[in-house]
Amino acid sequence: MEINEANVFEQPLHVGRPNMGDRDKFLALASEIFDRRWLTNDGPLVREFESSLSEFLGVKHVIAVANCTLGLELVVEGLGLTGEVIVPSFTFVATAHAIAWRGLRPVFADIDPETHTLDVESVRNRITSETSAILAVHLWGRPAAVRELQQLADEYGLKLILDAAHAFGVATESGSIGNFGVAEIFSFHATKFFNSFEGGAISTNDDVLAANLRLSRNFGFAGEDNVIRLGSNAKMTEICAAMGLVNLDDVEKFTEINTSNFERYSRKLADIRGITLHEVAPEGTKSNHQYVVALVAGGRRDDVISDLRSHNVLARRYFWPGAHRMEPYRSHWPNAGKGLPHTEAVADQVVVLPTGSAIDADAIDRVTDIIAGTLAR
Ligand SMILES: Cc1ncc(COP(=O)(O)O)c(C=O)c1O
Repeated sequence: MEINEANVFEQPLHVGRPNMGDRDKFLALASEIFDRRWLTNDGPLVREFESSLSEFLGVKHVIAVANCTLGLELVVEGLGLTGEVIVPSFTFVATAHAIAWRGLRPVFADIDPETHTLDVESVRNRITSETSAILAVHLWGRPAAVRELQQLADEYGLKLILDAAHAFGVATESGSIGNFGVAEIFSFHATKFFNSFEGGAISTNDDVLAANLRLSRNFGFAGEDNVIRLGSNAKMTEICAAMGLVNLDDVEKFTEINTSNFERYSRKLADIRGITLHEVAPEGTKSNHQYVVALVAGGRRDDVISDLRSHNVLARRYFWPGAHRMEPYRSHWPNAGKGLPHTEAVADQVVVLPTGSAIDADAIDRVTDIIAGTLAR
């Protein structure tokens, strides 16, 4: 390939470079933590973070956790799920792992190629007498088909859980993400547009589930020396809650930056043949635009990525090759791909481009120029 020296970035341009809130506010909270010597175990900052999140999401209960993966595991356990749980394969592998880790079987359903979220008919076709739940993902922050999935779950007496790792700050006409299904689970990992270093939160309007999750994230302790149920260690630390609180103050600013980046990519990519931008915000949706997802046709996706990388733009394939092609699922169900044609096709075309506060309009123009050069060859 030809390298256009003028377009080589001096510093690597990463996907998911962390957004950082106000340094002084964070240091002031860190200083309070030093004074209090209360580092973890349901500290005052964790409680404040939880109530701020409840208010932000408009949901009754928020249980802060160490990360989204543990949050998913606690929900699977807390709901007493058994047997099979239907999930997309086109997601980060943690969605499936959380089920398998609890000794259940993830059953992979296909996605709708337009939305990249679970295809409701594909889910219906996989329901058996062993199915106990549907775990859908708001992939890229695009809301899953919650109404239809809830109807299906009700029809068969299943629980609906939503992996909302990508969907913090997303709202639909029927309300904010965080209020659907029996519980939704967010990730505040460093690479998410809203982070608490590492972290996550479970949101639910179910009082009994919330009370159980509070116990299970802390080994099942109901008081000193009094363990009343099975539990794990999924507690959020005070320093993570401090980062979450500080970043929450800037969440609208981060969203505005992402939205304006998305709009610029959209204008620039519209003129390039062979690449299309994935729509993450259908009519009536407020999006966080944390991912700029493009689809490259004609088997040229990997050329685009390798040219971008030669220019120090660290664009990425995501969620390639699909969880069903990763271990242990690949060995258990080697033919799963036959029932997942859209997952396979989409996973082969997706490229995720850098966004967030680390990129500006000029950099987006250079990135899209590199892509145009590749696809013109
Ligand atoms: C869809 C999805 N689910 C779950 C997770 C796991 O989140 P965490 O890293 O907070 O455990 C991620 C993380 O990237 C994700 O993208």
